[in-house]
Amino acid sequence: MLNNLANLHAKCFPNKPWSANDFADLKKSGCEIIASQNGFIVWRAVADEAEIISVGVAPDARRAGIAAAMLGIMENELKKNGIKNIFLEVAENNQPARQLYKNNGYNEIGVRPKYYDGVDAIMMKKEL
Ligand SMILES: CC(C)(COP(=O)(O)OP(=O)(O)OC[C@H]1O[C@@H](n2cnc3c(N)ncnc32)[C@H](O)[C@@H]1OP(=O)(O)O)[C@@H](O)C(=O)NCCC(=O)NCCS
Repeated sequence: MLNNLANLHAKCFPNKPWSANDFADLKKSGCEIIASQNGFIVWRAVADEAEIISVGVAPDARRAGIAAAMLGIMENELKKNGIKNIFLEVAENNQPARQLYKNNGYNEIGVRPKYYDGVDAIMMKKEL
């Protein structure tokens, strides 16, 4: 399972692939993961807040609603557990991801300058 996730992650983030061990470490550190053949989402919840750590969909499966569906499943899970706010960071130049989050109710709340190899990170938040 973790090897499949690592293969999928490499397709989604070819410049920064995570290994099966990286995913094992995330799980050990308390992260939750939803994954299917073509998509995954990783988040961490602490007290009444959650942070989306990573989302990816295989290039040949994009624009079919997989990421939006995974966000919905995660949010239902978080609501059941009393989580009030979800936070994330996304690269300023990652238009597909920014659009995904915006269309699913996430609002921009700040900027971390030069956060990703010289590219600003946009901080976003959704209240559940
Ligand atoms: C961002 C990503 C996860 C979106 O996955 P996806 O399954 O294609 O997204 P969905 O099909 O659920 O799209 C939902 C909405 O997001 C927006 N969206 C998604 N891809 C988009 C694109 N390329 N351009 C513009 N809007 C886009 C649209 O509003 C879309 O709704 P629509 O198709 O009805 O217009 C995917 O492009 C990806 O894996 N990218 C590489 C990894 C990455 O950057 N992850 C995010 C890191 S923060």
